[in-house]
Amino acid sequence: MANTRDVAVGVVGGGPAGLLLSYLLNLQGVETLVLEARSRAHVEQRVRAGVCEHPTVELLRGIGVGARMDAQGMMHHGFSLRFDGRDHRIPLTELTGKCTTVYGQQEVVKDLVHAHEEKGLPIEFEVADVALHDLDSERPRITYTDAGGVRRELRCLAVAGCDGAHGVSRATLAATRPRVYTHDYPYAWLAVLARTPPVHGELIYANHERGFVLHSIRSHEVTQLYLQIDPREEVTDWPDDRVWEECRLRLTAEGFGLREGPLLEKSIAPMRSVVVEPMQYGRLFLAGDAAHIVPPTGAKGMNLAVADVRRLAYALRRLVRHSDPRPVTRYSESCLERVWQVQHFSALMTGLLHRDPAADDFARKLQLARLHNLTTSRAAATSLAEHYVGLPFD
Ligand code: FAD
Ligand code: DHB
Repeated sequence: MANTRDVAVGVVGGGPAGLLLSYLLNLQGVETLVLEARSRAHVEQRVRAGVCEHPTVELLRGIGVGARMDAQGMMHHGFSLRFDGRDHRIPLTELTGKCTTVYGQQEVVKDLVHAHEEKGLPIEFEVADVALHDLDSERPRITYTDAGGVRRELRCLAVAGCDGAHGVSRATLAATRPRVYTHDYPYAWLAVLARTPPVHGELIYANHERGFVLHSIRSHEVTQLYLQIDPREEVTDWPDDRVWEECRLRLTAEGFGLREGPLLEKSIAPMRSVVVEPMQYGRLFLAGDAAHIVPPTGAKGMNLAVADVRRLAYALRRLVRHSDPRPVTRYSESCLERVWQVQHFSALMTGLLHRDPAADDFARKLQLARLHNLTTSRAAATSLAEHYVGLPFD
């Protein structure tokens, strides 16, 4: 085929996983090409995650892409679990010596795109018709149509599937019949960005009879709110007045007064857990949301993508630079223990904080007992805090 080129690793998807993998590999002398379906402006403005774990922050800093995060990110040394109408603080730094950094995922993406640009590393935006071939050979291929409408072929040593839950990589791997574990939760999140100063300096995760609400922070002027809603509801069911009314009711606490402001964005996120096992087939390796989804309550999705990619970068370097296939052979196995730890934590946080419409009064009492235990036992709080700030990379 004309328009064919060779590259060591073809990276499908230019979200946090694909961009970080590409950058890490290039730092280690492994050439990549990132293929991204959307435009640069789109990926740089796609607002999603807000919390970076301690190991994520250290990694970004260590590879020289942390300057803006250090200048603009907000370090959080604790967060509150709000129930029974008052706050119960989990003092992260006191319990673990570590903190989290509130810094938007789109900012991490911007920093990584910029770092590619600075080093002249290629990212092709607005590609279409991406298809993966010969994955069970040592020379897999990716075909695609570039932004100018030209059909192209990329011959690689490995393909990194970093194209999220609905990309071509998971769909291609699905044809090899992996085991897929899924769990759907009986609620969704309405994500609301409001131009109003946050009324609390740390995140508040509130458990209320009417349902969960999270009060998070984007800047001194912008507050991010997430409300538990019925998964059948749509954004149009939530006019601004209803959003504020519900936030006020669910966040009720002494001395706490929510300040209303214009709502800048509203969107709905489903609540799902998914794990694809194994996360690889032949020379295709899935990372991030392509391999697994966690419900957002623990703020873990992007951070788990970072942990996968760190392992994949090492394994691919061994393959490409040292012709050592052993680490790639073990890639999925080496990721899955952390994946399930994070699934466990995210499911725990989700179950702890949401109102399950099918739960009876007994289940509700147990939920409150668990919350009390977590906020009165130092051992229980420490375990929660260790997961929240991020398990160390090994
Ligand atoms: P993605 O970000 O989905 O990137 C995949 C990329 O692939 C996209 O750019 C997409 O355009 C591209 N693509 C798709 N198909 C193709 C194709 N066929 N060809 C080429 N490119 C393709 N995580 C946290 O860690 N902390 C949080 O606080 C947090 N909060 C969240 C709040 C909400 C409301 C939501 C929805 C998610 C949250 N997450 C959070 C999860 C986090 O956003 C994701 O886990 C993260 O985006 C995963 O990164 P990724 O690179 O694997 O996938
Ligand atoms: C945010 C998202 C989360 O899922 C979370 O647990 C904490 C904060 C946020 O987007 O700010």
